[in-house]
This record gives sequence, C-alpha cells and structure tokens, in this order.
Amino acid sequence: RTGARVERLPLARFTTLGVGGEAEVWFVGHAEQLAEALEAPYRILGGGSNLVIADEGVPERVLRLTGPLAVADLTPDPALSDAETVVTGWVGGGVPLPGLIRKLQKLGLSNLEGTVGIPAQVGGAVWMNAGTRFGEMFDGLHTLEIVTPEGRRQVTPAQLSWGYRQSGIPRGHVVSRVRLKLRRAAPEAVLAKMDFADVARKGQPKMKTPGCAFKNPGGVSAGRLIDEAGLKGTRVGNAMIAPEHANFIVNLGGASSADVHALLRLIRERVGVPLELEYELWP
Ligand code: FAD
Ligand code: EPU
Repeated sequence: RTGARVERLPLARFTTLGVGGEAEVWFVGHAEQLAEALEAPYRILGGGSNLVIADEGVPERVLRLTGPLAVADLTPDPALSDAETVVTGWVGGGVPLPGLIRKLQKLGLSNLEGTVGIPAQVGGAVWMNAGTRFGEMFDGLHTLEIVTPEGRRQVTPAQLSWGYRQSGIPRGHVVSRVRLKLRRAAPEAVLAKMDFADVARKGQPKMKTPGCAFKNPGGVSAGRLIDEAGLKGTRVGNAMIAPEHANFIVNLGGASSADVHALLRLIRERVGVPLELEYELWP
C-alpha cells in the first residue's frame, strides 16, 4: 500500500448542493498513491460544485486530490518566461480555483481572471473548461499532466479539442497538475476585470446549488428559456428552481437527489428546445 488515506464518508459534505450518500473516499497526494487508487473502478471528485450525487451514494471509489497535488508553484520558469509572458511551475489539480485567481491578481498575472467566482478545483475546472463570458480556463494553460490506469502523460491545449464547457479530455482521465501560461499586467488592471466579471453574478442565487443545470443552447441563455416557460420558483420536495435565475436549482434544506432529478425532467418537458445537461449525475 502507498499510504493513501481511505475513508467511507457521506459525499454530500463535499458538494455545493449538499446532496449525496456514502462512498469510499481515497485522498491521494502523489503519483504513486494516484496509481494505486486507479487500480479499481473510480470516480474523480473535485470541488463538488457541478455534481448531483444519488442519496444511495456510489459503489466506486472516489478520488480526492490533496497534499502536493493541491499545491500551486507559481514561480516563473526562467526558460519559458520573459518580460511579457510567464509560464509557471506545476499547479495541482486539487488547488481551489478561487484562491488561485486571487493570488494571480496580486502577482499581476493575467489570463484567468474571467473565471472569477467559479467555485471549483483546478482539475475540475480544467476538465470541463469552466468559464464565463469573460474568459475560461483554457485561456491560461500551457501544459496538462493527465493520469489514467495506463500511466501518466503530458499534453498541450493544442492537442485537445476544447470548447465551450468542454476540454476534450475523456471522463475518468485525471487532470493531476497543470502549468499556467499568463501575461504580466498591473494588479489593478486584473482586479478591474475581475470586478467587471463579478457584476454578471449579482443575479445568481446564494443558496446551496451546483451552478447552472444546463449548457446554453446555441448561445441562448438556458436560464431565460426556463424562465420563459414559467418555471421560476417551482418546487419538488425540498429542491426549487431559483426565483433569481431559472438555470439554478437550489437545495432549500434536506433535498433528495430524486427531488433534483424530478425538476430536471420537468424543465426538459416544458422547454421546447433540447437542453444538454451541464451537471454531472452520479451514478
Ligand atoms: P466537480 O463538480 O467535483 O466534478 C465535475 C466533473 O469534473 C466530474 O466529471 C469530475 O469527475 C471531473 N473532475 C473533477 N476533478 C477532476 C480532475 N482533477 N481531473 C479530471 N476530472 C475531474 N461553471 C462555469 O463554467 N461557469 C460559471 O460561471 C459557474 N458558476 C457557478 C456558480 C456556482 C454558485 C456554482 C455552485 C457552480 C458554478 N459553476 C460554474 C459550475 C462549477 O463550478 C464548474 O462546473 C466547475 O468546473 C466544477 O469543478 P469542480 O472541481 O467542482 O468539479
Ligand atoms: N435571464 C432571464 N431569466 C433567467 C435567467 C437569465 O431572463 O432566469 C436572462 C438575463 O436577464 C440575461 C440573459 O438571460 O439577459 C443572460 O443571463 P446571465 O447573464 O445570467 O447569463 P447566463 O447565460 O444565464 C452564463 C453561464 C453562467 C455564468 C454567467 C456569467 C452557462 C450555462 N451559464 O449564464 O455559468 O456564470 O453566464 O458569465 O453558460 C455555470 O456554468 O454553472 C454558470 C453559472
């Protein structure tokens, strides 16, 4: 054994929705522990901010990146950095994104500030290319390290077919670490862009939620479509379509995964346009 900590835990506490039963959680801090964790069926848990997990939990082991895989080395690589550009050292997939964005701002490093306000870990945010209309994760990536049961490899963004809310990395491939490619800028200028992007969040609910339920079809706000279908404030059990923004389902307290699934079905029945889920449903 490589010494990874393994514990049976309720997954609800790892998610922003606050829903989900138990699973065996593997806390992995380095490559050897990660390799051992991938020897049996597994799922990868990041910040849990895009997940709806069943009340029954999941049978697979659930990986969580910690220790050195949750540390950011932002030292510029002298061989790849110059007066304008900085390529950093390795940033672990388990690093919380909001703190990283604040740190980059203070250091006067630009390219990722458009992702301000996204509650995620770096690995999860890269895996789905999280973003806003002000920028996305792939604006600031130089190299990605990806681990699978077959081994470890490095790829560049150019080798992936990434786009709106997708990286092109297959599900189950672990984004263990990335190196960032940033532009030097005045910290005040980076902060001003963050403040601007933050304003777009003013209308989002403050309650327990996994963010937007559906991707925007063809650039149209799914929230607007759900709103126009008259569904704001609709409740099933203890889950509700947020009155503030119709693409957010919120947990009023004690919601079950079945409550959330019922609302998702209702939305798809009532909105005339096919909607692609942004959440991930476990199992
Ligand atoms: P999780 O929810 O833990 O997992 C999501 C998926 O990523 C799963 O398939 C998981 O297996 C995979 N994954 C996680 N870590 C890794 C890894 N290291 N390697 C490989 N795969 C991994 N999203 C946006 O894009 N834009 C927004 O503006 C936005 N606003 C939000 C606002 C709120 C209040 C909330 C709660 C969510 C919001 N989201 C937004 C959704 C969410 O933050 C993003 O989808 C984010 O990328 C999820 O990252 P995570 O680390 O929490 O991943
Ligand atoms: N609108 C309505 N009713 C609603 C919601 C929105 O009429 O219930 C209208 C708004 O008034 C506005 C338009 O739709 O005119 C767009 O709304 P908003 O600015 O809230 O943007 P969005 O397209 O609904 C997207 C992302 C969010 C991201 C914001 C800000 C998706 C699916 N959603 O929302 O991302 O935070 O822009 O950049 O791409 C997420 O992905 O989880 C997420 C929260």
